[in-house]
Amino acid sequence: MRIVLMGPPGAGKGTQAPRLAEKINAHHISTGDMLRAETAAGTELGLMAKKFMDAGDLVPDQVMIDMIAAQMATQTAVGGPGADTEPGIILDGFPRTLAQAEALDEALQATGGAIDAAIMLDVERDELVRRLAGRATCANCKAPYHLTFSPPSKEGVCDNCGGNLVQRPDDQPEAVRHRLHVYDDQTAPVLDYYRAKDKLTVIDGAGAPDDVFKLLLAAARR
Ligand code: AP5
Ligand code: MG
Ligand code: ZN
Repeated sequence: MRIVLMGPPGAGKGTQAPRLAEKINAHHISTGDMLRAETAAGTELGLMAKKFMDAGDLVPDQVMIDMIAAQMATQTAVGGPGADTEPGIILDGFPRTLAQAEALDEALQATGGAIDAAIMLDVERDELVRRLAGRATCANCKAPYHLTFSPPSKEGVCDNCGGNLVQRPDDQPEAVRHRLHVYDDQTAPVLDYYRAKDKLTVIDGAGAPDDVFKLLLAAARR
């Protein structure tokens, strides 16, 4: 099972993807988390990417295509060749341009595979802005919290792993505005790409996380 989880910044991809991954035995691959890990480690790639990310711009396509190809190769190796036991993949944050979507299809075709479904979490603008303004993320395990909607039991500390909760630089209001614009401009066309292939399901992402998860699971099993 290979699923692309789509939706604008703040739609809930990072909240839902790990739950879905656990439920359907899949790897959660978040390109945003991978890039932030590179930045935290101070690698050349991370330092290059940080400039784009902090401003809310996309990292260049070829960098992302190479990164995802390398990541998917290791996941396949971990899963092994057994068809029944091979874990699926949930892509969060990739592809987000048409060039990335086409490169992904080509890479999968080369191994006889394909994307099974693209699922979009649909949430209105004002709610996205509220979610991003109050988000705090675990610096260690990347679990997302919200200071009002889903606060941790102990302020500033992750319930899962005890890690520190931090705010992302790109959640500043100006960067959020720009990310939403970039989404409309460059990522929304990817929805049409999957719709034309009859692979897109749009679900309502506005409800409480548990309700959204039920819709997501139903869409994934369709
Ligand atoms: P990325 O990390 O992918 O960020 P994004 O797409 O902007 O999405 P977010 O992570 O902000 O939102 P989310 O949908 O995961 O929401 P979350 O679950 O956290 O990318 C960051 C940057 O990296 C890009 O701008 C770009 O520079 C670069 N990049 C990454 N991939 C790239 C690519 N393929 N190509 C080029 N560049 C790339 O939820 C948000 C908040 O809402 C949280 O506080 C959460 O607790 C809360 N919340 C979630 N669900 C609910 C709910 N149902 N009700 C109430 N609150 C909720
Ligand atoms: Mg995310
Ligand atoms: Zn944590």
